[in-house]
Amino acid sequence: NNHQWMAPGPNDLRGPCPGLNTLANHGFLPRDGRNLNMSVILDAGFNGYHMQPDGLALAVKAATFSTDDPFTFTLDDIKLHGTIEHDASLSRNDFALGDNVHFNETIFKTLADSNPGVDYYNTTSAGQVQQKRLADAEIANPNITNTAKEFFIRSGESAFYLSVMGNPLTGVAPKKFVQIFFREERLPIAEGWRRSDTPINGSTLGPLIDAIAEQSHWTTSGGCPWIRVGP
Ligand code: HEM
Ligand code: MG
Repeated sequence: NNHQWMAPGPNDLRGPCPGLNTLANHGFLPRDGRNLNMSVILDAGFNGYHMQPDGLALAVKAATFSTDDPFTFTLDDIKLHGTIEHDASLSRNDFALGDNVHFNETIFKTLADSNPGVDYYNTTSAGQVQQKRLADAEIANPNITNTAKEFFIRSGESAFYLSVMGNPLTGVAPKKFVQIFFREERLPIAEGWRRSDTPINGSTLGPLIDAIAEQSHWTTSGGCPWIRVGP
């Protein structure tokens, strides 16, 4: 197995998830971003990040809704707005505002500049970032969808970046690692990162999600939480 970072080629698919894009860029997932399913993703999450199935399986099940293919999906399929993909992302624009797939440095600035004065992010800063991203998106996007479903997904994604780039027990993650993960979709091994010794699972993610959610002071913009079940 060759797990060197390689930029995707012209026929390789990538999508809105920095976690999966990074696994593909390192060959833990197929580098072409195709033929993904439950076992392929669970293996890659374990080998790349030490993530256990209970932290990933629900997202994979939801991802199967993003295509009519009953067996596999691609990294591109999962951009389907309303299945997992949602508004007020940390590093991508809202669907209604243009590009909900590719990294956007302007959007990412809120996270990048958070927790000033120290060299790490934590659950408090992650919650503040979610609050600010939502406030900005509510102004920019009159058609925003922001129900309990999107809130749950967003809080989980914040716990994911803190856990895979930092300490999954404390939720403290070096800024340098998190920024390389988002901007380059690369594991910052050369900078000193290594795969967590602690397995990342529901027991470690749960307390981080709760702390992040609390610090984000979330309120709904109304509407009923639905999951889009097909293209
Ligand atoms: C978004 C991390 C697994 C699908 C995100 C985001 C992070 C993240 C940090 C937020 C990006 C942003 O707000 O700009 C991870 C990590 C994973 C992982 C570390 C570990 C393997 C998965 C799985 C799926 C998935 C298993 C489904 C098969 C998505 C999708 C988005 C997303 C569709 C876009 C949501 C949005 O921002 O609108 N992921 N993820 N991810 N993830 Fe993952
Ligand atoms: Mg989004």
